[in-house]
Amino acid sequence: MRKPSIKTITVKILLTVILTAALVMMIIIGLSFRSLSHRLVEDKALAAAELIKAGLTSHMKAGIMDKREYFIQEIRTARNIEKIEIIRSNEVNAQFGKGLALEQNIDETSHKVFNSKKPLFILDEYKLKPKIHALVPYIASTKGRLNCLTCHNVSEGTVLGVVNIEMDVTEYRNTALVILILILCTSAVLVLLIIINTFRTIQTYIKDPLESLVGRAEEAYKKNIPLDTERYRSLEFQNVAKEINLFNSDIIKTQKMLKDKNQELELLNDEIEDTLKETVFTMGVIEEKRSKETNNHTRRVTGYCKLLAEKIGMSKDEIELAGDAAPLHDIGKIGISDYILLKSGKLTSEEFEIMKKHTTMGHDMLKHSKRKILRAAAIIAHQHHERFDGTGYPQGLKGEDIHIYGRIVALADVFDALSSKRAYKEAWTIDEVVTKIKAERGKHFDPSFVDLFIANLDTFVAIKDKFQST
Ligand SMILES: [Fe+2]
Ligand SMILES: [Fe+2]
Repeated sequence: MRKPSIKTITVKILLTVILTAALVMMIIIGLSFRSLSHRLVEDKALAAAELIKAGLTSHMKAGIMDKREYFIQEIRTARNIEKIEIIRSNEVNAQFGKGLALEQNIDETSHKVFNSKKPLFILDEYKLKPKIHALVPYIASTKGRLNCLTCHNVSEGTVLGVVNIEMDVTEYRNTALVILILILCTSAVLVLLIIINTFRTIQTYIKDPLESLVGRAEEAYKKNIPLDTERYRSLEFQNVAKEINLFNSDIIKTQKMLKDKNQELELLNDEIEDTLKETVFTMGVIEEKRSKETNNHTRRVTGYCKLLAEKIGMSKDEIELAGDAAPLHDIGKIGISDYILLKSGKLTSEEFEIMKKHTTMGHDMLKHSKRKILRAAAIIAHQHHERFDGTGYPQGLKGEDIHIYGRIVALADVFDALSSKRAYKEAWTIDEVVTKIKAERGKHFDPSFVDLFIANLDTFVAIKDKFQST
């Protein structure tokens, strides 16, 4: 799954925090604003009620109670009050009798105000036209400019009546809503600005430098040029760039050291391989000398084997291996006594049986090695006297059951034996050799190898001439 970017993670966190904070703030502001709005309309209603109370008292004191209706209507119009009702107490009604047309009897709601002696506000705010009902008690008092008790036969603190007014507060509510919407919009714009700014800050100070750092770090490593640490504006990125420079420098040093070591190892390995090849070749020459073989027999057989392997189409490594292992084909002869090995006359059948053992003895000498060259040499020592038709020794292997190295060395060894002078015979001419080898096609030798030999006879002869016996 693809991992989210730093920008996405930060914006998610930021959005969660800001939106939560904004929501909490909005709730607090909304509730406070609602409370303030309520206080405002209550104060307005209270002021109107107080004005009515004062007006009624003044009319009473001035003896113009009959003008009260007119006064109240004027107040209603001036203050945009929808309804004004006066609810007189039983004491007042008992003293003065029923008065105004707009006077009402005490109902359940006004009864509460008579008892509590405190204003009661009922706000009907969720209607299309919100209203406030204010019920304000008129309490008899001797304090202030007006002494109620001069007219009323009641004790101080008695509730003389309740002024009940009903006012439309649509304008207040709408104003409050507009202000609330303005606050919300301003907050939303602020949140948006904070997010955009954070976005840009992350882009400028984190994402861009990070991407640039990754790209430049790779380039710096490839070209071996240190990063310019001054180009980064934040301390953290500057430090990272410095660390990358140190890291790259260490890696490059280590790589160079490993390369040098590797070269040393390759040279050492070549040296070991060359030493082994030379040792194998020398062992072949030692055996060649002891067997009184013609000089350079080993060199020529090596050359023929490589040539034949190449013409067969073997890989470069296989060609090298066949040629390098070939010198040990007769190494088993060091286990054969001089009497038999160096006998100038024809071997008896018993002697020949002993002589044949040089194949298995050579194989036994070499087979335990884990070196490729010696393992190949073991096969060659074992199988170079096998014949393609199965009449060879020591195992009487047939056809391609004989390892390809065995078949190659068989042809190379016989070609050199026939074309070289030996103590008991003269060297055959090339024509005689070719005739003999052709005659052995499919008998002693692999027929396809004989064909390749014939096709490349000149090169075989060139090798023979190059490493002539002396
Ligand atoms: Fe041999
Ligand atoms: Fe040989």
